[in-house]
Amino acid sequence: MAGKKVVGLLVGRENTFPGPFLDMVNQRGADVGVTAELAVFGGTSELEPPRHAVIVDRISHEIPYYRAHLKSAALLGTAVINDPFWWEADEKFFECTLARKLGVAVPKTVVLPNKDYIPDIDHQKSLRNLKYPMDWERIVAYTGLPAVLKPNTGGGWKDVYIVHSIDQLLSAFDQTGKKTMILQEFIDWDDYVRCICIGRTNIMPLRYNPRAPFEERYVISQPVEGPLHEHAIRDAGTLVEALGYDMDTVEFAVKDGVLYAIDFLNPAPDFDNFSIKEDNFRWVLEKMTDLVIAYALGDKTPPWRDEHRWWKHVEKGPTHDALRA
Ligand SMILES: Nc1ncnc2c1ncn2[C@@H]1O[C@H](COP(=O)(O)OP(=O)(O)O)[C@@H](O)[C@H]1O
Ligand SMILES: [Mg+2]
Repeated sequence: MAGKKVVGLLVGRENTFPGPFLDMVNQRGADVGVTAELAVFGGTSELEPPRHAVIVDRISHEIPYYRAHLKSAALLGTAVINDPFWWEADEKFFECTLARKLGVAVPKTVVLPNKDYIPDIDHQKSLRNLKYPMDWERIVAYTGLPAVLKPNTGGGWKDVYIVHSIDQLLSAFDQTGKKTMILQEFIDWDDYVRCICIGRTNIMPLRYNPRAPFEERYVISQPVEGPLHEHAIRDAGTLVEALGYDMDTVEFAVKDGVLYAIDFLNPAPDFDNFSIKEDNFRWVLEKMTDLVIAYALGDKTPPWRDEHRWWKHVEKGPTHDALRA
């Protein structure tokens, strides 16, 4: 066996997942030469032999230096969960188009020009490609009212507005500054399901109540069953496979039997035990542990390996082993 394989974890302020995850990987990895640790970086050089066979990235969207490190580490052979290149490029509007092409229902959605720009933008000279004024009537005729105005990238329910009229839409839009926003048909759902997706094939549909306080949203007492369960697994699986996310949650608002995918851009999903509850927390720990050990041992390859153009121009192979040997 070539050297010990180290799994690194990058986290923000979450506290319930990291310890038990590292413990489980260390326990299960002991016999096969895999260990796990909180990764620690501080200034990376270009060809620095990557310490980690695998890195589970739960925070590079907020700590850009981690992302810079991860892109280089990926090139040098580290299996990064999730692909730092794709995560950075991904957006909700693109995902809506992708869902439609894949035959997964999504609310009718329009991407909007920004409200504000950096000071260098001259409204007369720099925006000649923009239609002005905006045809709000036409946009709203497509999405209907009420509609949801929300950021094209982002999370944590920040800047999500439900608007009931064009007046409300305009006053919400006026507050969006430089953010690119989408306007989306509001699905007046009669049921709501959130799927925790790990390794693209392990999909756990859970009943979810977005109207409840944060810690009470996963409704464990009402399991998702029957055709709804099957349908959620099928559509969530289709989306995460196409997106290549090994960690994600996919939310569906259900209306008249149609599952509308609402939010599936969650590449660092909430894994806290107080939120997803104990049984699901165990399931997440087990599936994440299986995945990182398989990647560490080379039994599985991350979905993004070889998919970027530059892979064709660099030496392939188990660079991680070669560098660590
Ligand atoms: N089109 C929609 N129809 C109905 N509810 C929606 C719609 N879009 C968002 N929501 C509600 O708002 C919440 C936050 O929106 P979401 O797209 O998940 O933003 P974020 O990325 O900030 O989590 C969702 O969980 C859902 O409850
Ligand atoms: Mg969301």
